[in-house]
Amino acid sequence: MTESHPDTPDAVTVTEPAIRVLFSREQIAARVREMGLQIARDLGDLSPVFVGVLKGACMFQCDLARATPLEVTLDFLSVSSYGAGTTSSGSVRMISDLRGDVAGRQVVLCEGVVDSGLTLSFILDHLRSRGAASVRVATLLDKVPCRKIQVPVDYAGWRIGAEFVVGYGMDAAERYRNLPYVGVLEES
Ligand code: PRP
Repeated sequence: MTESHPDTPDAVTVTEPAIRVLFSREQIAARVREMGLQIARDLGDLSPVFVGVLKGACMFQCDLARATPLEVTLDFLSVSSYGAGTTSSGSVRMISDLRGDVAGRQVVLCEGVVDSGLTLSFILDHLRSRGAASVRVATLLDKVPCRKIQVPVDYAGWRIGAEFVVGYGMDAAERYRNLPYVGVLEES
């Protein structure tokens, strides 16, 4: 039940930023389905492990795994590079490591967005040091103009510019991850 309260002199006005839809729920579903089928074609009868980079890749990883008609296993890494800001801090730290052994496995690394490339570079080094037989990189979004370091991207949903995106797993200070679409925060 909603109660109405009289205005009070100390009421705080919060201006919510508008969100411009960049990729709709339907567009994402169609593109992820294509990517899942492409990965299956490329991997033949192999059984890859889909490694999701938390937290931003959580939705993408799950949808991509369901779109891939192969026997796959799931694992997760948690790293952070942005903190609470909207630009890359340049430093990557491991928050939690894989639970499983990727030695000798075909890895499909699932990212929400590749920006500077620093996170991906760090994770690729990590997976190689763990003896992965191969690593293919799948990202929903690839911010090509923002690269600070060259990294391989095998499957990209879309290439975009430098805009700060939220939704479908991606956040601004932990908000908006559960939006079913990808959007851009508009300046108010
Ligand atoms: C975001 C995103 C990528 C990384 C890409 O993660 O999900 O993992 O940044 O940036 P880079 O290419 O400049 O390194 P973030 O650190 O914001 O953590 P989160 O996934 O938990 O939101």
